[in-house]
Amino acid sequence: MKQKALLYKGKAKSVFRTDVKGQFIVEFRDDITAFDGGKKDVLKNKGSYNAGVSAFLFEYLEKNGVPTHFVKMLDPRRMVVRELAMIPLEVIVRNVAAGSIVRNYPFKEGTKLSPPIIVIDYKDDARHDPMLNDELIVALKLATAKELAEIKTIALKINALLVKLMAAQGITLVDFKIEFGRSGKTICLGDEISMDSMRLWDKKTNESLDKDVYRFEKGDVMATYNRVAKRITTKAAAAPAKKTAAKVPARKPVKVPAKKPATTKTAAKKAPVKASVPAKKPVKKPVAAKAAAKRAPVKIVAKKAVKKPAGKTPAKTR
Ligand code: C5P
Repeated sequence: MKQKALLYKGKAKSVFRTDVKGQFIVEFRDDITAFDGGKKDVLKNKGSYNAGVSAFLFEYLEKNGVPTHFVKMLDPRRMVVRELAMIPLEVIVRNVAAGSIVRNYPFKEGTKLSPPIIVIDYKDDARHDPMLNDELIVALKLATAKELAEIKTIALKINALLVKLMAAQGITLVDFKIEFGRSGKTICLGDEISMDSMRLWDKKTNESLDKDVYRFEKGDVMATYNRVAKRITTKAAAAPAKKTAAKVPARKPVKVPAKKPATTKTAAKKAPVKASVPAKKPVKKPVAAKAAAKRAPVKIVAKKAVKKPAGKTPAKTR
């Protein structure tokens, strides 16, 4: 297979055309970003860890009846995928309250969410990925009501499969983000599933094993990615799916950087929002919610200080 012209360059992956009809190459680069691109780095080998875990999970899901775009690996960081017409939705499944759901709503970090909560955002960087609801998705013609129902069913199936696989490795699958595309009439899982797109906690120690290590400077990111990649892809290959109720041990609350309106970055730099200021407004409607969250300072319940990322205060933590 020959790699041809670059089709799309995202924050951490590049997609190339190939000489094979209907197939692309996805290159997982070593770039890592967070806070809406406000924090950026290049971490050696990061691309190959994420590619390896994604490939492993795509194969596992395929074996369990989930259609994905995965074809094969060309080398440790380049994946051959089927061409999909991507649906611009970020489908987030949450089993435990953490991240933006804790910042935007009155959930305590670590609370088990049963049944899992699906949140769907509009994948649109310029609009900072606002949260959608079913009516908006259909009205914007992003997906039909039937497709949306199918997307949710597949997302919950993926969640059940991943929760089991991670549990067998002593890992709590806190939440994750996935993206879908159409291949003819089939809805297929696309993009990636990696330490960049999942929130993973060690069941015994509650240690973060994902991009939160980078976001909140909790330790050596690459050492964590290396360890967790091995952990996910080694034993789990032989032993998928033990039925264990996911126990969520108590976790020390983590201090997160305060959210700011995207439009007031300059002012924000001059007068940083104090992380201890409580949120002013409860949010009611999904789309308004993110905007409100951006306006309102964040309520922080931190005992353990986590260093604020250097540079701009982020509008969001992704
Ligand atoms: O930031 P938030 O808590 O909403 O993220 C939920 C999950 O979705 C996390 O695992 C995060 O890494 C993932 N995510 C992502 N890409 C985005 C948004 C969220 O991978 N654009």
